[in-house]
Amino acid sequence: MTKTKKQLYIKTFGCQMNVYDSVRMKDVLSPLGYEASDSPEGADMIVLNTCHIREKATEKLFSDLGRLKKLKDKKAKEDGEMILAVAGCVAQAEGKEITRRAPYVDMVFGPQVYHRLPEMVARATRAHAEKNPSQVKGAGILDIDFPVESKFDQLPEEFETRGASAFLSIQEGCDKFCTFCVVPYTRGAEYSRPLEDILTEAKRLMASGVRELTLLGQNVNAYHGQNKSGKEVTFTDLLYHIAELDGLERLRYTTSHPREMTQDLIRAHGEIEAMMPYLHLPVQAGSDRVLEAMNRKYTGDEYRKIIDDLRAVRPDIALSSDFIVGFPGESEKDFQETLKLVKDVVFSQSYSFKYSPRPGTPGALMELQVEDAVASRRLEELQSVLDAQQFAFNEAYVGQTLPVLFDRRGKEKGQLLGRSPYMHSVYVTAPERLFGETINVKIQSAGPKSLTGKIVTGEYDKKDHLEIERVNA
Ligand code: 5AD
Ligand code: SF4
Repeated sequence: MTKTKKQLYIKTFGCQMNVYDSVRMKDVLSPLGYEASDSPEGADMIVLNTCHIREKATEKLFSDLGRLKKLKDKKAKEDGEMILAVAGCVAQAEGKEITRRAPYVDMVFGPQVYHRLPEMVARATRAHAEKNPSQVKGAGILDIDFPVESKFDQLPEEFETRGASAFLSIQEGCDKFCTFCVVPYTRGAEYSRPLEDILTEAKRLMASGVRELTLLGQNVNAYHGQNKSGKEVTFTDLLYHIAELDGLERLRYTTSHPREMTQDLIRAHGEIEAMMPYLHLPVQAGSDRVLEAMNRKYTGDEYRKIIDDLRAVRPDIALSSDFIVGFPGESEKDFQETLKLVKDVVFSQSYSFKYSPRPGTPGALMELQVEDAVASRRLEELQSVLDAQQFAFNEAYVGQTLPVLFDRRGKEKGQLLGRSPYMHSVYVTAPERLFGETINVKIQSAGPKSLTGKIVTGEYDKKDHLEIERVNA
């Protein structure tokens, strides 16, 4: 069967912000006749939506591009031109270098300008039509602006349905300048979308069948937008507005900063029914000295106090975090304080990284960079404690019944994968029609990273669908 639409393949690296951006790029390109494809083979347009947060991103990008160039050449010989694009944070940080080292790339654009894709695609198509077939040069489009206009005001409505669980970007960029982090340089200054725009997008998502919303931002709880009359709206106010939407079952947000965990926000975790008992709250390190050098502006004890307050209003809340080991100047004693904090708090899952000096950040210029072998050992030690905590957390739910929102298909046939309120990944053998539903699941076993269970049948086997509908109601 010949495809009538142009095939668009987007490969997404990094954080959920990039996941959101990729979905919105599809929305922008859809009216131009593009439809999403799962494979780069034969695609008419390929976008690599890149992440610059840790090392090797740039080298990895060039090796990916080398491979894609072959597909682009093949397509040019067989059935026309492919547009090859690099988007995201590596594009923002290394745009000129990409156009220099990979001249066959057609367009390089940063995270704040993808609303301009129709114009870029038109320019690339013109350049392709005008070029001499033997030329390897791409269209040479480079847009790494931080435009005054916000992309959010220019983006079209959603074209594709989002399934049961969707991201909604409410805030972008960061003014905190943690000394290890490139985000303030690649995503730009902190920007909060106006309340009404967010509510409009949220309502559209809900109307398309979304039941779980995850509000996104680099510093999501620093949100400070405005309502219609220009009055400032805090992140907590926004949560209460969103919580009123019809049909909303589950509400989450990520990524938050401990400095903005206000008492109001903590209270909201106890008051808003749809708020899920899970929070990702990066601490990065346990030593006050290191936290100060990182410019995090809180102490280990202040972090512990936030956790205590959260657990007071929501005792079952599951906590996850990010850690960096081997930050410049981190001594063995500092590292032990990170381990101590982990043991005091107890996390349900975590992400831990070896410090990677990012060009242009203050951390990269600091003296006393930690030797790689030392950082590797600390990472291993930290990860073994965190893994043990995650496993214990998972095991604690064996035998319990949890409502699971099935939003993905499992690797095996007949298997669905969903999330518990606590963000466990739960695998269940279940009929396909339960995709997108929230169903009670009895947890049978726990692995290091996931749970398996079976649908609470009750009368399900006999009455089939009816019982499921009852659980759902
Ligand atoms: N080196 C290592 N890890 C980093 N992160 C951010 N910048 C760096 C860096 N330079 C980690 C932090 C952050 C997560 C998204 O990535 O832990 O919370
Ligand atoms: Fe990076 Fe710190 Fe901003 Fe998070 S708060 S995006 S770690 S600078």
